[in-house]
Amino acid sequence: MTIRDIFDDMSYGPAPESATEAFDWIARHDGKFGHFINGAFIPAGQGFETRAPATGQVLAQVTQGSAADIEMAVSAARKAQSKWAALPGHRRAQILYALARLVQKHARLLAVLETLDCGKPIRESRDIDLPLVARHFYYHAGLAQLLEAEQPQMGPMGVCAAVIPWNFPLLMLAWKVAPALAAGNTVVLKPAEWTPLTALLFAEISREAGLPKGVLNIVTGDGETGAALVAHPGVDKVAFTGSTGVGRKIRAATAGSGKGLTLELGGKSPYIVFDDADLDSAVEGLVDAIWFNGGQVCCAGSRLLVQEGVAERFHARLKARMDGLRIGDPLDKCIDVGAIIDPEHLARITAMVDACDGQIHRAATDLPAGCYYPPTLITGLSAASPLMQEEVFGPVLVSMTFRTPAEAVELANNTRYGLAASVWTENVNLALDMAPKIRAGVVWINATNLFDAAAGFGGVRESGFGREGGWEGLMAWLRPKVQGKALKPVLPVDAPADPQVEGIDRTAKLYIGGKQARPDGGYSRAVWSPKGRLLGHVGIGNRKDIRNAVEAAHAAKGWASATAHLRAQVIYYIAENLSARADEFADRLRQMTGKDGKAEVEAAIARLFTWAARADKVEGRVKPVPIRGVALAMNEPVGVVGAICPDEAPLLGFVSLMAPLIAMGNRAVLVPSEAFPLAATDFYQVLDTSDLPGGVVNIVTGRHAELAPVLAGHMDLDALWSFSSSDLSARVEAGSTANLKRCWVNHGRATDWTRADGPDFQRAATEVKTVWLPYGE
Ligand code: NAI
Repeated sequence: MTIRDIFDDMSYGPAPESATEAFDWIARHDGKFGHFINGAFIPAGQGFETRAPATGQVLAQVTQGSAADIEMAVSAARKAQSKWAALPGHRRAQILYALARLVQKHARLLAVLETLDCGKPIRESRDIDLPLVARHFYYHAGLAQLLEAEQPQMGPMGVCAAVIPWNFPLLMLAWKVAPALAAGNTVVLKPAEWTPLTALLFAEISREAGLPKGVLNIVTGDGETGAALVAHPGVDKVAFTGSTGVGRKIRAATAGSGKGLTLELGGKSPYIVFDDADLDSAVEGLVDAIWFNGGQVCCAGSRLLVQEGVAERFHARLKARMDGLRIGDPLDKCIDVGAIIDPEHLARITAMVDACDGQIHRAATDLPAGCYYPPTLITGLSAASPLMQEEVFGPVLVSMTFRTPAEAVELANNTRYGLAASVWTENVNLALDMAPKIRAGVVWINATNLFDAAAGFGGVRESGFGREGGWEGLMAWLRPKVQGKALKPVLPVDAPADPQVEGIDRTAKLYIGGKQARPDGGYSRAVWSPKGRLLGHVGIGNRKDIRNAVEAAHAAKGWASATAHLRAQVIYYIAENLSARADEFADRLRQMTGKDGKAEVEAAIARLFTWAARADKVEGRVKPVPIRGVALAMNEPVGVVGAICPDEAPLLGFVSLMAPLIAMGNRAVLVPSEAFPLAATDFYQVLDTSDLPGGVVNIVTGRHAELAPVLAGHMDLDALWSFSSSDLSARVEAGSTANLKRCWVNHGRATDWTRADGPDFQRAATEVKTVWLPYGE
């Protein structure tokens, strides 16, 4: 071929990146790696091969982490933790800064090794993954510096376990290790079995940053090693990224252990194109959304929703663009789409696509031999078809059309996931109207796959819980320095031998959808005063009552979009009405508990004022992300939240859970104190006279231990809090795996209800959504 031919043809020739240095590094380790524990590699043990997906070539042998290895790593991390946490924030910041600089200094080696081990195009690992890794360490160096001044009451969790996937091996390491270390924790990280190499190289490099021994430990291995790590009793927090199935197992394995948990799981993210969108940009965006890393991305825009009027044109342009994508050797700098991670995964993708009955368009590009799958577009599927609902985790896009924005929202939300979404329209009003309506943790407007350490990333629903990035992400690596004492169960007063019964019989019903309702089961129990006086009867709620209450809460969806001003007014009004009946409530508390109730009523009124005040002052943030544009951190309600109220503070505890929930726009299903339920049932009348729409607060009395698993297993509940004095943490967390709801439980520790109105309540009552808004034409 002459130079003239090349100019005529304008086709790309191969531009392979050399892998010599990466192979040299592997060779320096004799092609065998042990775990990295306490600042050094231990000798390699029995294990498995890691291969280059593109060629099948064996790259190295890594060790399968055993229970003994985990033990060694966790105890090294434990030994190092208190000294690491005791370092001044400035010293930790310096070390994180050094890690960021080292990532930059070794960027090319890390990028090439990443591409070799996971098959993603070198352009991606070099230009996206590595810069984001460095940025994450820089940003968290800053958080380490500022932490003590900004969050003086918070301290580290302790020893953290990080279990990460194979699609962004080094970036996921950075997302876990940087905030963990910034917060004063030590880490044991298990990389994915298919991609362990960059974590090992990073560990080696970390020695040059002056990271004390034991602060970062890497144990390689498969899911069994991961399971042993998360279950280890010496672990205080688990951070996981991976499949929803494994996320469920980890939720179950850690239930009731007191370990912190964040889960970043799968998705089926919608990519919505309106008819006024800049279609060429939207096509380009879509290439990035679904063919970035071969679609093996948790937030891949894998569900195209395109407005009917432009669908044909859009599909035509998309197919033309697909046909031009270059697929092949990931080390070639001209390649757009690299290899699929493993033949096993390739077989999974192939089987899923082969089983579908839609119209399939495959990119008309030659596929090299090996582990590759062509960019694929599938149309003509119904909304319920498996490919519309299940994560493929490959270069497979499914497409549907819609007519109206309302239909687009409905289709977008027709998934059990809620990770990310893209909205393409030139109409800013429409874009900003759509963003809050989509159930997702991240929304990109006229963009896709924008990430930054300052901006929170994470999901809702079965995409998991917790955020990574920003202050909101850091909070998941911290806990209050002062922990409550062990809580003793507070039990109902037993029936006396010599009951005193006087006055007119009073039976408190349940409160559902703004109306009093008889308990479905038809069971009630007597409530006695400590002196043996019958105070009334209270309904024993069951599964059906909870179902009705959750339905009523869903029906009250207008509350989520009511203005913060209105929510504040209603909560002030509740306070006013409680205040008008303060003596009556104080008397009721005295009758039930035998203690003077005045202070508790006053504290409850003050608490209502606090949350009325906060309702319109919980501000979002504008994140200074490194693009021409902004990322908005918007506080949204979590949704419909169940809360099991404390026994020991029957009115104040009830109000302390209800008020933050409704102030932030949630709807609540509250189970009052089991021992002293009548303060909450008297409260119906306060709610009825306070302009609170029916269904925003629902109250189901009953036995905590019976209702907790019902609430935990409810598929339409977005979160569940438990402050019961009988420690229900294990039951709540274990029961929550069905829809992976957010749980907030007391782990059997006492809460000081006179002070319980802090930012932790606000955080638990809100979901941070990051909305990315690039500027420009
Ligand atoms: P996976 O969820 O099985 O693996 C992720 C990590 O968890 C790996 O390090 C693995 O060794 C570990 N692990 C597996 N079982 C475990 C257990 N019981 N306890 C603790 N750790 C355990 O993901 P896999 O098999 O690599 O991919 C399967 C599917 O998961 C993909 O097809 C895709 O749908 C999804 N996935 C989602 C990711 C995301 O970023 N959300 C990333 C990777 C996979």
